[in-house]
Amino acid sequence: MGFKDQIDFSKLPQHIAIIMDGNGRWAKGKGKLRVFGHRNGVLSVRDIVEASVEMGIGYLTLYTFSSENWNRPRLEVSAIMELMVSTIHKEIENFMRNNVRLNAIGDLKMLPEKCFRELTWAIDKTSANSGLTLTLALSYSSRNEMVQAAKNIACKVKSGELNAEDIDERTFAANLYTRNMPDPELLIRTSGEYRISNYLLWQIAYAELYFTPKLWPDFRREDLYDAIIDYQKRERRFGLTSEQLN
Ligand code: IPE
Ligand code: IPE
Ligand code: MG
Repeated sequence: MGFKDQIDFSKLPQHIAIIMDGNGRWAKGKGKLRVFGHRNGVLSVRDIVEASVEMGIGYLTLYTFSSENWNRPRLEVSAIMELMVSTIHKEIENFMRNNVRLNAIGDLKMLPEKCFRELTWAIDKTSANSGLTLTLALSYSSRNEMVQAAKNIACKVKSGELNAEDIDERTFAANLYTRNMPDPELLIRTSGEYRISNYLLWQIAYAELYFTPKLWPDFRREDLYDAIIDYQKRERRFGLTSEQLN
C-alpha cells in the first residue's frame, strides 16, 4: 500500500490521465445495477481530484465517456448523463474552493442539451482558477480527434494559411483538443484490462502505463500514491541508453 511520504514531490508527473474502468463489474459483484457502480465511481473521482489538488498535480484527465459508449443500452447512457449533470452541479463549490479549472475534450455537441449547458456553465465559472486543470474526456474518441486535426490542417493548407511542407508534430499537436496541455507522463487504467480503448493515442506516445486490477469505485488516493511511486521508480529513456541518461 502506497504512502504519501514515499512520493518524491520534486518528481511528480505534471499530467496524469486515467481510464476509469470497472464500475459495472463493481456493481454486479454487489448484486446491483450498473448505474450503482457509476454513482460510486463519482466518489472515487472526488477523492482522486482532491488528492491531486493536495499534491499539486497540474493536469488530471479522466476518461469519463467514450464515443463508443453511446452504443450502450439507452437507459445506462441516460443515467450516466443525468449523473454527470448532478455531479457537476454538486462539485462546483469544491472546484471553486480547491482552485480547480474544469475542462472537457471530445465531441461535446453529442451531449444532451442539459448536460452540455451544465458543463459549459461550470467550465466558464471555473475558467479563472489556476490550480489543477481537471479535464473530462466526454464523448471522446482519439481517432476522431486525430481525423478532426487532419481536417483542420487540410483547411489551413487549402486557404493558404499554412504550407504543407511546414506541417510537423507541433502543428499536429496544436490541432488536437489537448493543444494547451502537456502530454501525460502517467496513464492509469483500472479494472485489470490491458488496453487503451481509443484514449489519447497521440498524447501517450511516451507515457508510462500503469494497470491495476482494482475496479474504479474501489480506487482511492492510496492507489494513486501507489501508481505515482511506481512511476517514480521507472527509468524513462526516450530511446536513449541507460548509460546516456546517467
Ligand atoms: C467505466 O466503467 C465507466 C464508463 C465506461 C462510462 P464500465 O461501465 O465500463 O464498467 P465495466 O467495465 O463494465 O465493469
Ligand atoms: C473505456 O472503458 C471508456 C471509459 C472508461 C469512459 P470501456 O469499458 O468503454 O472500454 P472497453 O469497452 O472495455 O474497451
Ligand atoms: Mg468498462
